[in-house]
Amino acid sequence: MKNIVIFGAPGAGKGTQSDFIVETYGLTHVSTGDLLRKEIADQTELGLRIKSIMDAGQLVSDDIVVEMMDKAIAADTKGMLFDGFPRTVAQAETLDKLLAKHGRTLTCMVQLEVPKDELMRRLLERAKIQGRADDNEATINNRLQEYNNKTKPVAEYYATQGKQRIVDGLGTIEDIAARIKQAIDK
Ligand code: AP5
Ligand code: MG
Repeated sequence: MKNIVIFGAPGAGKGTQSDFIVETYGLTHVSTGDLLRKEIADQTELGLRIKSIMDAGQLVSDDIVVEMMDKAIAADTKGMLFDGFPRTVAQAETLDKLLAKHGRTLTCMVQLEVPKDELMRRLLERAKIQGRADDNEATINNRLQEYNNKTKPVAEYYATQGKQRIVDGLGTIEDIAARIKQAIDK
């Protein structure tokens, strides 16, 4: 059973490539961003609390996402693809513990590398089509700053464990998918 993290900056293609990975390896896709956006759309108590944080492009607290992931892992039987989680070293440490609780270990972390100007281009393009609340230039800059300050150290965490697989995230979606498969199968 595989348990994989898809990692990268906002706009790196985590969600796009997740479709291919879950299909190829028969995994359950769990995106913390999607779960949090659903709480906002449903106007739950949690959704009301986190809306302003997400609209500002900041990370929500570790406690909130960890509780969501604990439930998701407990409910899964196939193996999982984690998209947008972990985003802090504390979350990465917790993920190892949650997996261990269920007799699992992380297979690897796939890190999509995309230059900043291309990230910005993709997200501003998506803004025109989808209108996601956090896809505007000021908020994208905040999201990139949060990534650099709090999330990038997670890459080092997995490098130290020998689980980091760096993949060039530029090119066609199909080419990148093929690179990811190679990186996972290695
Ligand atoms: P989240 O939903 O995870 O957003 P994100 O990381 O900012 O990234 P995106 O989803 O925008 O990008 P992506 O890498 O998935 O790229 P995509 O495939 O969509 O998080 C949102 C917020 O939730 C956070 O800011 C935070 O507040 C909160 N949150 C979530 N998880 C959290 C956690 N663990 N802890 C704390 N807070 C958390 O692609 C982007 C665009 O590019 C698309 O339009 C796509 O069509 C296009 N594209 C994709 N691939 C290519 C390609 N090869 N060539 C050209 N275009 C492409
Ligand atoms: Mg995404």
